[in-house]
Amino acid sequence: MQRDWDERARKDPFFYIDSARAWSGAEEFFEAGEQGYRRLVEPELRALGVDPCGKRLLELGCGVGRMTRAFAQRFGRVVAVDISGEMLRLGRSYLAGVANVDWAQVSGVDLAPFQDGSFDVAFTHLVLQHVPDEETALDLVREMLRVLRPGGVFLIEFNSGPHQADGGGRTAAGSARRGGATRGGPPPDRPPAGVSHMAGGGAGRSPGSRGDVGA
Ligand SMILES: C[S@@+](CC[C@H](N)C(=O)[O-])C[C@H]1O[C@@H](n2cnc3c(N)ncnc32)[C@H](O)[C@@H]1O
Repeated sequence: MQRDWDERARKDPFFYIDSARAWSGAEEFFEAGEQGYRRLVEPELRALGVDPCGKRLLELGCGVGRMTRAFAQRFGRVVAVDISGEMLRLGRSYLAGVANVDWAQVSGVDLAPFQDGSFDVAFTHLVLQHVPDEETALDLVREMLRVLRPGGVFLIEFNSGPHQADGGGRTAAGSARRGGATRGGPPPDRPPAGVSHMAGGGAGRSPGSRGDVGA
């Protein structure tokens, strides 16, 4: 896993992270992270009554920091982790000067460097469908829950349906009971552009389910 993602990072990181469009450059790519935050994250946090200000967020599979930058502008501290040292190297460089981000390489199967209950929010986007087997994906979800403080919030986005070429992704939000990894989706070297699901919830409590919010 790590070698593949390092290679992708060296070859064409924006494409391998998200092939939904042909990126004109870093500005457009990072603006998509900002838009992603507003579309996928903001409504969920609002629905759960969470104000990001001063909070500590873990981002699993941060890539080159596309969403990380949007998080850093709102959260107190962001810990951005990835299996790929090359992705992290690029992330550090793109976000040079952003003081409230810590970058860390992880094994790909756990979040061992982090203590139980040490984050307010745990987030992952376009990562779990790339994990080679469902058991590992579920282990990673368990790890995200482990590192959340009681009452903390997780937001998990992953491709869960057949690939759609039109890039018209939709999201569904729900409680912890509706979350989970699924089989299928694009092959590992083909980032998703189709249906994805956002499962969000509070650790230790179950927020109400919300329907499709569209894209
Ligand atoms: C499709 S990219 C998404 C990057 C970022 N979340 C975004 O939306 O811009 C997937 C990222 O997850 C990382 N990744 C893949 N499997 C992982 C794992 N098991 N643990 C941690 N990171 C992983 C890859 O190195 C890559 O940076």
